[in-house]
Amino acid sequence: MFPLKEKDRRVVQVLLSAGCCPRCVLRFCCVGIQTTYRLSRKELFTELHKFLNDDESKPEAVECNQPPCKKIRLQDSEKSDDNSDLSGAAELLSSEYVLRNDQVQICTVCLGILQDQCEKEFVKKHATWLLVKQEVGQQGSILAKDDILQLKEVYKWITHPLLSEELGVPVDGKSLFEISVVFAHPETDGDCHFLATVCPDCFRPTKNKQSVFTRMAVGKALEKIKDDDFLQQFPYRLEPPKGSCVVQRIQCTHNSVYVAGRYNKFSRTLPQTPWVIDGERKMESSVEELIGEPLKKLFKVDNLNFSSSGREDVDVRALGNGRPFAIELLNPHRTSFPQQELKELQEKINGSTDKIRVRDLQIVTREAIGHMKEGEEEKTKSYRALIWTEKAIGKNDIDFLEELKDLKLDQKTPLRVLHRRPLAVRTRLIHSMKVEYIDQQHFHLILKTQAGTYVKEFVHGDFGRTKPNLGTLMNMTTDILELDVESVDVDWPPTLDE
Ligand SMILES: *[C@@H]1O[C@H](CO)[C@@H](O)[C@H](O)[C@H]1NC(C)=O
Ligand SMILES: *[C@@H]1O[C@H](CO)[C@@H](O)[C@H](O)[C@H]1NC(C)=O
Ligand SMILES: *[C@@H]1O[C@H](CO)[C@@H](O)[C@H](O)[C@H]1NC(C)=O
Repeated sequence: MFPLKEKDRRVVQVLLSAGCCPRCVLRFCCVGIQTTYRLSRKELFTELHKFLNDDESKPEAVECNQPPCKKIRLQDSEKSDDNSDLSGAAELLSSEYVLRNDQVQICTVCLGILQDQCEKEFVKKHATWLLVKQEVGQQGSILAKDDILQLKEVYKWITHPLLSEELGVPVDGKSLFEISVVFAHPETDGDCHFLATVCPDCFRPTKNKQSVFTRMAVGKALEKIKDDDFLQQFPYRLEPPKGSCVVQRIQCTHNSVYVAGRYNKFSRTLPQTPWVIDGERKMESSVEELIGEPLKKLFKVDNLNFSSSGREDVDVRALGNGRPFAIELLNPHRTSFPQQELKELQEKINGSTDKIRVRDLQIVTREAIGHMKEGEEEKTKSYRALIWTEKAIGKNDIDFLEELKDLKLDQKTPLRVLHRRPLAVRTRLIHSMKVEYIDQQHFHLILKTQAGTYVKEFVHGDFGRTKPNLGTLMNMTTDILELDVESVDVDWPPTLDE
């Protein structure tokens, strides 16, 4: 038995005579039982038929001046023409059922989506992963009213079990794997265009959209339009569509998977990210590619998005525990990896080059990546710089640098990054320095700085744009020959026992 109530009877009749398919009838009657929608069309017709005929006391006549109704009554000359709409609707049902193999009347509401497009054959044909993206249009948007069951939901109820059976895996709405099915129905595409006169603001052209009549825009306009105005401009009774919706596109995507770790960079000729100027490659490879390419292969991803806790220049090495990084894998075709496989991947990357090493490689959540970025400015970084001095220095001439604590610098945006950073003066701290004398013109300077300090500029002064700088402190010209990042004090991602 259908979970329909007596009060629904009239609604059922009106909907049927308006050209609704049984599943849409159930939606409008707010039937929320999923299994009902999974009945075959034949069963649905039989049950609706039973429901309409069950009752002895026939309700008052329904206005039914639609062609389908009339036609059926005319066709059916055997039945006494008592003009009862009840029998009209029931006949409509059976005649639709009889016709089902050649030409079914296309539902005026779902445009066929809940008729053919979700039945087993369709699903099977595409061996398919389905999730409906509701067609942009008048009918669909009316259904967005809260209590009516959404076409999309019903479509999922029907197709999920079919897919599950076909693919042999559980299917549910929370999966990160998404299938979108785009339906098109050119015949009724123009139906919603009159809304543009009601709410011109709702329909603004956007770059990526083919049409301004998006589902969102139509929905917005429908909220604004008064019911009376709507009815005046749009026919209350819909003509049965000539054709059903066609599937324009089926798209399978998986949400991003995130991988994090730390890297060391031992080369002074390796940029962190691909270095391309005016379409021309400047350096052979990059940290991003050396780590990313093997990941790309293993996870079978379309693309990736590399980020890290700060970055070093091409000629700066990253030593110590390495620099934390995270990679967003876009649309991966493999999604689960035991830690063992990640370790093997790490080994592979380690073995593929002398330029970098990777550790602590692990799958992380999107949220966790925030830890890497947040508070980046407050973190400290340790550097080791090889300094050249213009004048000869003695062992003790540089000791005074170790006395300086939390030295405050004013750094104007360095000339070398001015093309990509706004001009500003930033205040940064050098928490402490240590010195290691080498010879009369060289020493190592080990610095603990606030993240974001431009160390190179502190040493050579950047034409006075960093104040104070090593040169002003030592009363001579100084320059930086080599720089290494010794540690990035970000305690993420977690260290792994290897
Ligand atoms: C890449 O990541 C950044 C931030 O981590 C994000 O803003 C951006 O949208 C991402 N790009 C893609 C294509 O996902
Ligand atoms: C890769 O190299 C790093 C740095 O030397 C090391 O800590 C890590 O254990 C290595 N990983 C593997 C799997 O070899
Ligand atoms: C640099 O010169 C200033 C002013 O002449 C002086 O006070 C300071 O001690 C000098 N510093 C060094 C390291 O010689």
